[in-house]
Amino acid sequence: MPIYLDNAATSFPKPESVCAAVERTLRHYAANPGRGGHALSLEAGRLVMECRESIARFFGIDDSARIAFTANATEAINLGLFGLLQPGDRVVTTSMEHNAVVRPLRALADKGVEVVKVASDHLGFVSPEAIKAACREGARLVIMSHCSNVTGTVQPIEEIGPWCRSQGILFMVDAAQSAGLFSIDVAELAIDLLAVPGHKSLLGPPGTGFLYVRPELSLRPLIYGGTGTFSQSETQPEEMPERLESGTLNTIGLAGLGAAVEFLEEVGLEHVRAREHALLKQLIDGLRNLKSVTLYGPHGSSRHGGALSISVSGHDPSMLGFRLDREYGICCRVGLHCAPDAHRTIGTFPEGTIRFSPGYFNTAEEIEQTLQAIHSILST
Ligand code: ALA
Repeated sequence: MPIYLDNAATSFPKPESVCAAVERTLRHYAANPGRGGHALSLEAGRLVMECRESIARFFGIDDSARIAFTANATEAINLGLFGLLQPGDRVVTTSMEHNAVVRPLRALADKGVEVVKVASDHLGFVSPEAIKAACREGARLVIMSHCSNVTGTVQPIEEIGPWCRSQGILFMVDAAQSAGLFSIDVAELAIDLLAVPGHKSLLGPPGTGFLYVRPELSLRPLIYGGTGTFSQSETQPEEMPERLESGTLNTIGLAGLGAAVEFLEEVGLEHVRAREHALLKQLIDGLRNLKSVTLYGPHGSSRHGGALSISVSGHDPSMLGFRLDREYGICCRVGLHCAPDAHRTIGTFPEGTIRFSPGYFNTAEEIEQTLQAIHSILST
C-alpha cells in the first residue's frame, strides 16, 4: 500500500462508515431527493436532510436551510463571491489565498470590483491590524482562508470576524483546510459566508461541499433551474436552500458526508487534531536538523494546520516528489499547490515546495518510513 500524505488535496482513506453509507445509498436509496412523493424519493430526501442537520450542528449553524450544498469548496466560494459582489464593491483579501479565491476575484475585478490584497508575513500570517487598515477606505467584504494549504498557517479569524461584524463588513471564510480539523462556530467567529469542502478533513466523499449563508443575506444563484419547489414559476425561488441548489443533488455523496460528520463527532476534533499534530511534529523533528532542508510556515506551533511545506537545496521539488512516489510509494504534492500568491509570500515562487499533509489515518510508522526515504534520497 502506498503511504498517502496528500490529505490537503483530499483525505484518503475514508472511515468505513462513510464507505458503507455511500454503498448502501447507491444500492438502496439513490432516488431523486425532493422530486417526488414516492417512498424512495422521500428516503433520499431524508438522507439529505440528515446530512444538512449534522453539518448545521457541527458548525454552530442555527438554521440548516442556510446551508447550500455544492460540489466542493471552489464552487462554494464562487457562489458566495459572484452571488454577492457588484461592480463598485471593494473586497479585502490576503496574499495567502488559493486560486479558488484568487481567480474568481480576478474575474470580478475585470468587471469593476475593487480587490485589495493585504500582504502576509513570511510565515503566512496576516495581521488583523493590516486587514483593519485596508478596510479603512470602506469594504463590502473581507474574504480569507482559515488555514493555508501551502504552509498550514492558521489565520487569526477569531479577531478579524468579530471586528468585521462590528464595522458592518461581511466576512467570508474559505475553510478548505480547516473544516474537520479545527472547530468552527459561525456565530462565535461572526462568519457571514463559510465555504467548506466535504472531501478533505471532513472525511466525506469527493463531489461534496457547501456554502453557509448567514440569515437575511440573499445571494444571486450561480445556476438556475429545477428545485422541486414552486415549479409553476419561471423565476428562481427566494427560499433557501432551493434558491442556490438547482438540479439533482449528490445524494450518495451527501449520505457519505453525513456519516463522516457523525464519525468526527464520535471521535472528537481534539483527538483528530492531537493525532495529526503528533504526526506533523514527528515529521518536523525528523527534518529540522537536516542542513539542506528548509521548513516553511509556523511549524510546530498551535497555529499550524495539516500541511507542511519544505524545500531541499540542490533538489527540484518535482523530482523529489517523483522519486518519493516511484521509489518509495510515498504520495505527496509538489509545486505551487494552486496557490502562487502564497508561494510568492513565503519566497518559494515559481519552483514551489514539496508538501506533506498527514491525515487521521496515517501512522507513526509511515512517517518514519517517509523520513528514512528522504534521508536516503539526500544521501545519494
Ligand atoms: N487545494 C488542494 C491542495 O492544496 C487541491 O492540494
